[in-house]
Amino acid sequence: MVTSFTSIEDILEGRYVDEEVEIRGWVYRKREGKNLIFIVVRDVTGIIQCVVRRGGPAWANAEKVTIESSVALTGTVKKDERAPGGHEISTITLRIIGLAETFPITQDQSKEFLRDVRHLWLRSRKLTNVMKVRSKTLRFAHEFFRDRDFIEVSPPMFISSACEGGATLFGLDYFDHELYLTQSAQLHLEVLINSLEKVYCVAPSFRAEKSRTIRHLTEYWHVEAEQAFTTMEDMMELEEDLVSYVCQRVAQRCKGELEALKVDPLELSKIEPPFHRITYDEAVNRLQKEDLDIQWGEDFGFKEEKALAAEFGPLFVYAYPKEIKAFYCKAYTENPELVMSVDLLVPRIGELTTGGARIDDQEELMERIEEFGLREEDYDWYIDLRKYGSVPHTGFGLGIERLLAWMLRLESVMEAIPFPRTVRRFYP
Ligand code: 4AD
Ligand code: MG
Repeated sequence: MVTSFTSIEDILEGRYVDEEVEIRGWVYRKREGKNLIFIVVRDVTGIIQCVVRRGGPAWANAEKVTIESSVALTGTVKKDERAPGGHEISTITLRIIGLAETFPITQDQSKEFLRDVRHLWLRSRKLTNVMKVRSKTLRFAHEFFRDRDFIEVSPPMFISSACEGGATLFGLDYFDHELYLTQSAQLHLEVLINSLEKVYCVAPSFRAEKSRTIRHLTEYWHVEAEQAFTTMEDMMELEEDLVSYVCQRVAQRCKGELEALKVDPLELSKIEPPFHRITYDEAVNRLQKEDLDIQWGEDFGFKEEKALAAEFGPLFVYAYPKEIKAFYCKAYTENPELVMSVDLLVPRIGELTTGGARIDDQEELMERIEEFGLREEDYDWYIDLRKYGSVPHTGFGLGIERLLAWMLRLESVMEAIPFPRTVRRFYP
């Protein structure tokens, strides 16, 4: 059944002019005149206008068909400058596969309503294009790591020791134990570098994140990498190369989607390494000069991150005070109050990645676990890694939805994932 249909994209590319084709899809729009009915059909590749003439065999079904009905349609392709996409189909037959009830989504509906009917709104041109870019973005990320001989690994989702602190942990009953949903695969990737050296994964991460912002989900997709025998500089280079590679490839390979989403591919193709690098100290000075109310030692919020990134585009900020970063961050020998942690900030979204060098010395790690009030027994296996051939190593994590929201200028990370989960939204 599937193979004999022609894709709308192929028709719009002009390959079937004056030929008969059969398409299938859903009714995207319908406009009725006295002697003509215009039906715009969509399939995954695009939309095309189909004209039905009164008196022809398709007329009765064309009158009956409703928005979002599924249809199969035969007709002759005509070149027509007035039609969207420059081509239209002069319809011969129209078969209704599934007649739709009155579709609840019409123009100018509120964002809240569209989120309530997400299962139907996913059919919109906007979300269709976003999901296509999302799929390609994931493919480009895999390509990037594989081209560099990273080994893809599959981390667990049920975990017994927190990575990013208790405040955003989801707990769950696991038979007779209390476990958590993973916040990050990092600690498990650190295990795997001792055999595989360079590893990465693309997996969900979970955060019990109560705040409603444009950049927080409770379930998001996390690209994480970890590398043995590396320095902070190696890691920043890896990150800027990854982000630039994905932007360049999206600019080249998602032209149609970008056009539909009104995103200029030129802007994306300008994202190139190296990215600016400044220290936390410099960042605080800069913000204070801009009259933002921040004191040394405080963590940056959304406002501060946006202010920093606005000037430079993607910007690395590194060497943070120990207290505002995670327990596993390695301290600088010359200034142990600062740790080798680095955030990559981008305009409008703020933090896109966090990465850094991990403590590789057993004693330093045990001290830090105590300072952070963590239970040593939960981290025995993690401490073990420092006992048996420890190596300096670095890694980072990047949120796919934040990357997409930044690249595609989306109003929120909710638009970058098919079924967004937030404190209030878990349906459908
Ligand atoms: O900054 P985070 O918490 O860092 C880590 O989890 C490290 N263990 C990663 C590593 O080194 N392997 O999270 C990393 C990235 C953030 O920079 C952000 O892009 C994304 O994950 N992120 C979220 N995205 C959407 N919703 C949330 N609630 C997010 N929390 C983090
Ligand atoms: Mg972070």
